[in-house]
Amino acid sequence: MKLLVTGGAGFIGSAFVRLVLKEHPRFKVVNLDKLTYAGNLENLAAVADSPNYHFIRGDIAGGEEMQRLFAQEKPDAVVHFAAESHVDRSILSPDPVIRTNFQGTFSLLEAARRNGVGRFLHVSTDEVYGSLEEPHEAGEDYPLNPSSPYSASKAGSDLLALSYHTTYKLPVTVTRASNNYGPYQFPEKLIPLMISNALEDKPLPIYGDGLQVRDWLFVEDHCRALLAVLDKGRNGQIYNIGGSLALPNREVVRRILEATGKPASLITTVTDRPGHDRRYALSSGKLQRETGWGPLVSFEQGLPLTVRWYQDNADWVRRVKSGEYQQYYERNYANR
Ligand code: NAD
Ligand code: DAU
Repeated sequence: MKLLVTGGAGFIGSAFVRLVLKEHPRFKVVNLDKLTYAGNLENLAAVADSPNYHFIRGDIAGGEEMQRLFAQEKPDAVVHFAAESHVDRSILSPDPVIRTNFQGTFSLLEAARRNGVGRFLHVSTDEVYGSLEEPHEAGEDYPLNPSSPYSASKAGSDLLALSYHTTYKLPVTVTRASNNYGPYQFPEKLIPLMISNALEDKPLPIYGDGLQVRDWLFVEDHCRALLAVLDKGRNGQIYNIGGSLALPNREVVRRILEATGKPASLITTVTDRPGHDRRYALSSGKLQRETGWGPLVSFEQGLPLTVRWYQDNADWVRRVKSGEYQQYYERNYANR
């Protein structure tokens, strides 16, 4: 089995590559990544010398480049993670988000259609369902109601991918996961940002009242779900992948303060995110029924493990926070 993984140098993609090479020694992995600010080959140091692993730097939105790459590599399956993945950045600069998430998915689908692949797994998000009132949970047929340029670009690319199954019989499967957390997550997202700021005694910026609810999924549980879908998922289908616990942001931050031993006085309330979704909730019953998957890591286990990883990997954090991170941080947080 030769897998073409896009975005394999990012947070979830690199966890997936490490897991595949550990658990499936006969699989070959080609990692295609543009290495944007979020892509980091350090995340793959453990597998870089594996004879079954190969890295190619490239842009998924380059149509001709993708045609050549598919013709040359002839992957059996594509697992498509590559994206501009951060909502706040998509609000500040929507351009690269639309280009990568929509145009990039399109050029991959075209290359897959023209060269033939046995499976195209499009990795998407529960954000496409938008904000849900209590006590609703989104099943896979719940209406799409994206709020940000990021979630709209993902909803558009989901529909495009599914249209390639309907129209061209391309063997597409779409997954929609909830909020991931764990080692190697770029410190722009809630959990790694709060951990890393707390460890440096910096303010913890909570948007608005902090009562927005997210459903937390340990990154390795997500990757195991993707392997289960690759193995048993049906073509043309969507599978939700939910986490082990839904919590308001304030409670997540309280637990981070507890785990780092830092005072609540670090919390600071800042202006809310425009169009901020209040509550995500999804049901992953279909995935559980069809593949037997379920999350293995509870939030009570995963959060302290993640905090410890950031404590033990201060050099990694320092390196990813140098460079453009400071400018982004200033732009996003200075006037809130
Ligand atoms: P990330 O931002 O950590 O990594 C994205 C990767 O894609 C980086 O390595 C980057 O270099 C690469 N990339 C960006 N543009 C590219 C381009 N044009 N060509 C090639 N490579 C490019 O993202 P993540 O958090 O690991 O998310 C991965 C996928 O999972 C995304 O599709 C995202 O929508 C989805 N997802 C994320 C979460 C989450 O909580 N992080 C939850 C559900 C779904
Ligand atoms: O639900 C899945 C999605 O989860 C993925 O599709 C996205 O790629 C991923 O970024 C994530 O999106 P969110 O917007 O939910 O994640 P983020 O970590 O940016 O924010 C989580 C919550 O925390 C959200 O309610 C906003 C809030 N927040 C975030 C940051 C960065 C704050 O209060 N302060 C912050 O500084």
